[in-house]
Amino acid sequence: MLNNISIRIRFIFVLLVMLVPNGAAYFSIFKDVYEEELRNQARIVVNNVESFSAWVNNNGGVWVTNDRSYLGHKSLIDADTQEPIEMYSKNPALATREFSEQIAKSDSPATFRMTSENYMNPKNKPDAFESEAITALDGNINTEYYKMVDGNYRYAKPVFHKEGCLRCHGVREDAPQAVLDFPNLHDGFNFKVGDLAGVISVKLKTVSFTTRLTNVLLGSLLEIGLIALSFILVLWFVWGLILKPINKLSTVADSVSKGLHSDLNTNNIKDSTNNEVYKLTLALSRLKNSYEYTADKYSKTKAIIEKAKRKKQERKNKEG
Ligand code: HEC
Repeated sequence: MLNNISIRIRFIFVLLVMLVPNGAAYFSIFKDVYEEELRNQARIVVNNVESFSAWVNNNGGVWVTNDRSYLGHKSLIDADTQEPIEMYSKNPALATREFSEQIAKSDSPATFRMTSENYMNPKNKPDAFESEAITALDGNINTEYYKMVDGNYRYAKPVFHKEGCLRCHGVREDAPQAVLDFPNLHDGFNFKVGDLAGVISVKLKTVSFTTRLTNVLLGSLLEIGLIALSFILVLWFVWGLILKPINKLSTVADSVSKGLHSDLNTNNIKDSTNNEVYKLTLALSRLKNSYEYTADKYSKTKAIIEKAKRKKQERKNKEG
């Protein structure tokens, strides 16, 4: 059945069918690139958080003059004025939380926080995604966890307890008084070295993948045009250089077979051509010429015989 359908029609059909896997492949590649890009943005945020936390840690904590939230407190005397100054200290986790709260207040599309299932500060209580990430990362070889949640890209990287951390996060009774006095202290103790302390959780506000895709497609009309052009090029090649000439040759062959006259121009074709369609044209032309020559000879001979027959008949009639 299908074999009788014109190759031209089938070729267009194949091209259209080809668009489907091609479209699916482009879609999938773009989605991968998009997600990889989001992941990289989240990794950069985590990197900044870790660096900031390390900076606070390397400086033995930071000392500030406001008493909003602190772990240590010292009253100092200004050497110049002899006035008392109250200084308050923040450890890396506390400074990092305040840093994250500052960023959350800004219009940054990327926010972050440090959170744990067993937390000291109730403000660090994990949300549903973070709990899921902590479960997935605990005791697991995975080094990151991510997914889209309500149109946001959520990403989590595990943080593990080291020896120095247990001074505050180990046995509760051994913790510094400043930690035990921490307002709203919830828990956050009884960790051991190597335990999963929690995660650095990043939230990226994103537009949905389809919106992003539409924007990219609208901004890439030139590139889409180029893809369409490459399809047209293939179509033109197969159509113009193969299918159309073959169609012409089959019309000529059809006419010749029915004894009808038909033109086949081979003037521009060299005998030494490598073009397969031209070779076929030359072969058909030779076939057509020898057929027409034979047919011509045949009709001339036939005419002579007819004439001779007629003369013979006329002679017979006269004699009779
Ligand atoms: C000087 C005591 C101290 C040390 C040392 C310490 N932390 Fe903390 N940690 C805290 C306090 C206090 C908080 C709560 C900070 C806040 O207000 O968000 C906290 C919070 C955290 C949190 C967020 C969840 C929670 O418990 O509220 C994580 C995760 C964390 N620390 C991990 C670590 C790791 C890992 C180390 C070692 C590299 C470490 N901490 C060292 C005191 C400490």
